[in-house]
Amino acid sequence: MCGIVGYIGYRKATPILIDGLRRLEYRGYDSAGIALIEKGGLMHEKSAGKVVALEKQLENRTFTSHVGIAHTRWATHGEPSNLNAHPQLDNSGNIAVVHNGIIENYRTLRKALESDGYEIVSETDTEILAHLISHYYNGDITEAVRLALSQVEGTYAIAVVDSRTPDKIIAARSGAPLLIGQGEEENFIASDAAAVLSYTKKVVYIEDKEVVTVSADSYHISTVENEEISRKAEEIGWSLDMIEKAGHDYFMHKEIHEQPDILRNAMRGRLNFEEGTARLRGLTDHLSDLSKIKRVIIIACGTSWHAGLIGEYLIEEYAGIPVEVEYASEFRYRSPIIDEGTMVLVISQSGETADTLAAMREAQRKGAKALGIVNVIGSTIARESDGGVYIHAGPEIGVASTKAFTSQIVVLSLITILLGRMRNISVNKGMEMISALEEIPAKIQKILDSENEIKKIAEMYYRNANFLYLGRGVNFPVALEGALKLKEISYIHAEGYPAAEMKHGPIALIDEKMPVVVIATKDSIYNKVMSNIAQVRARNGRVIAIATEGDTEIADKVNHVIYIPETKDCFTPLLAVIPLQLLAYHMAVLRECNVDQPRNLAKSVTVE
Ligand code: G6P
Repeated sequence: MCGIVGYIGYRKATPILIDGLRRLEYRGYDSAGIALIEKGGLMHEKSAGKVVALEKQLENRTFTSHVGIAHTRWATHGEPSNLNAHPQLDNSGNIAVVHNGIIENYRTLRKALESDGYEIVSETDTEILAHLISHYYNGDITEAVRLALSQVEGTYAIAVVDSRTPDKIIAARSGAPLLIGQGEEENFIASDAAAVLSYTKKVVYIEDKEVVTVSADSYHISTVENEEISRKAEEIGWSLDMIEKAGHDYFMHKEIHEQPDILRNAMRGRLNFEEGTARLRGLTDHLSDLSKIKRVIIIACGTSWHAGLIGEYLIEEYAGIPVEVEYASEFRYRSPIIDEGTMVLVISQSGETADTLAAMREAQRKGAKALGIVNVIGSTIARESDGGVYIHAGPEIGVASTKAFTSQIVVLSLITILLGRMRNISVNKGMEMISALEEIPAKIQKILDSENEIKKIAEMYYRNANFLYLGRGVNFPVALEGALKLKEISYIHAEGYPAAEMKHGPIALIDEKMPVVVIATKDSIYNKVMSNIAQVRARNGRVIAIATEGDTEIADKVNHVIYIPETKDCFTPLLAVIPLQLLAYHMAVLRECNVDQPRNLAKSVTVE
């Protein structure tokens, strides 16, 4: 979703701002723009489309500016166009604003500004902010921003430059992420640490309703109500090579292949073999509460929601605690019943998804303790949750989530073992689970080594228009995730279904043009899944089965088999999803799709 970069310092601003925008491209956007304070005046340039189009417009022009702001926009108000791209300017042409989020009362503000004579040219809510700041400007740009924001309802992260105050950038946030990157004689503003990582690892996270004034050698934080805040920089644990492709064609491919190492990271120091349990530091303060919980509600969106469904199977089966998994966007507008024994688990890779954040706040408002399963350290959900566990997957740049998904399942498995050991799981059973989990990374590597076989299957099917994915039990959410991966990056229509439900509808669609991917691993419901496969084959459907190594019988009953190593039934999702990620990836590449930045999608959805 939208991205913000700002620079002020001793270097030329333009290359740094463009580099920052490139680092944010992965978040998904449809236009880009830049504003510089150049020779005492404001210069701005905008372009619909990719950052490269903006760069082309800037080509052969020399800029000397040392201060500027830039933006990638994901359209909310008004189509992606040069006019609607950010920065948006006030009528005097002195003030430029870039903005992530949505100003909810912008219509009311727009009417008031129009009747005051302001000329509004774009369809954006952001332009309203530029005029509002101008309206309150009385020689002090920080004060003008503060007064403007006091009129605003909604979510925002903004960066503002004013050509009359060329030695400052003003920034503020409420509900959308923003940070200061602290350098030597230079400072940065960014909505995502990836934009500043090439220059500094020191960041200051801006909190909601705070306004910051940044110059080349200092930053000053205060609240919208003008109370002083003092906050020191923190070191980010991510390095530059973590946000580069390392020889892979796409970040998604790199991230799929990183999974063995990433999962070892997610388990590191957390497996307690002797006691057959998990050691989760982020939950240490909550152990007494965890021993008493009677019900778990899992809240998430997208792929994280699929991980939540797998968590439901795990926790119910091994810890014996009832679990409900809710779409965050639905949960936030219901009247959920939360009693003393309810624990809320919030799953989010980015830690910034607007619906998930709002749902968590709603649960906390109703008295629930919310524990986060988050990847991005220092993100809003990580900071506002009452505790939780980081998945330590490192930066995930591909819009379609892969390594975060498997890391989330590992963390859910660890939480399950911890909760189970407090209840009915014996030490031996706990040890068995811990050992099975520890073997997963090597087993994933084995699947990755058979990538070529999976690619060959992709070559046979990438022209198909529809796919069905079937799975049962704990592998039903894997079917959902496999279908989601395919539609996200290849734009092939795909649906995930519980295998036995197929006969209640999707079976009507089956013919030789409908490939069906079935997770048919050797578990307690293997024979039932085989009957579902027979129903597909009887109707000429093409079956691609994900089967357990050593299952020789299945080969005659399906068109293609992808084997995965054997593991405990409850951990099959960690293996079964890998060929589905690779299948989606190769089909998307064959269809010449932009795998890392699929159309219309955003990595971190910070609007409702
Ligand atoms: C977006 C992304 C998905 C992700 C979902 C939830 O839709 O494209 O990949 O699963 O948001 O994001 P979160 O960061 O909360 O896990």
